[in-house]
Amino acid sequence: MSFDRSLKIAPSILSADFANFGAECEAIEAEGADWVHVDVMDGHFVPNITFGPATCAAIRPHIKGIMDVHLMIAPVDPYIEAFAEAGSDFITAHVEAGPHIHRTLQAIRAAGVKAGVALNPGTPASAVEYLLDMVDMVCVMTVNPGFGGQKFIHSQIDKVRQLRAMIGDRPVHIEIDGGVDPTTAPLVAKAGADVLVAGSAVFRGGSVTNTAPYGANIKAIRDAVLTTTV
Ligand code: DX5
Ligand code: ZN
Repeated sequence: MSFDRSLKIAPSILSADFANFGAECEAIEAEGADWVHVDVMDGHFVPNITFGPATCAAIRPHIKGIMDVHLMIAPVDPYIEAFAEAGSDFITAHVEAGPHIHRTLQAIRAAGVKAGVALNPGTPASAVEYLLDMVDMVCVMTVNPGFGGQKFIHSQIDKVRQLRAMIGDRPVHIEIDGGVDPTTAPLVAKAGADVLVAGSAVFRGGSVTNTAPYGANIKAIRDAVLTTTV
């Protein structure tokens, strides 16, 4: 997996049909998704519960490309091995999830997985300053984590700009998570993001038996970025 800053759309299966995850993963990839974003929530770090490593392992054979696992859980460390064994390509942990994010990121890489660090909307860019040489991705939450379909928080665009400058030439992706649609995607792409997570904006209007809307929705986000000058 070589590093590049080209635009990548990562649909979040949080907005998929929970009874059909395998087919949904296949459908979004067939319809143009670059990565598959997997939102793990524990009802403790965030006020919602989704699923754990067993579900990640079950969907893995249905994903040809990147499985991007976003852990909204605390603690993180006891579960890293299980998510690595489930076949994660990226494991992202929150800087707010505990006092030892540095150790957590070391453990993710030691497990042979690319490491991401996520920041909640209230956390400044400086929180990751001393972590940039040990991560493969910084995820900027543009909603408060826990639910799909929330409104994009515009103040985060400036944070993306700051992070892009801090990252410089390092091979570190900037991922945006929350409220991404064809109107907000160009704003964050222009600020320096290259991975755009989108849940509701990708899955709306479609289903496992009618997947064409997924493709149209992914294309609308991609085209908005590629054609908008902001
Ligand atoms: C929020 C999750 C997001 C979410 C995005 O806690 O981390 O990945 O699914 O959903 P939308 O795109 O609907 O805001
Ligand atoms: Zn997410």
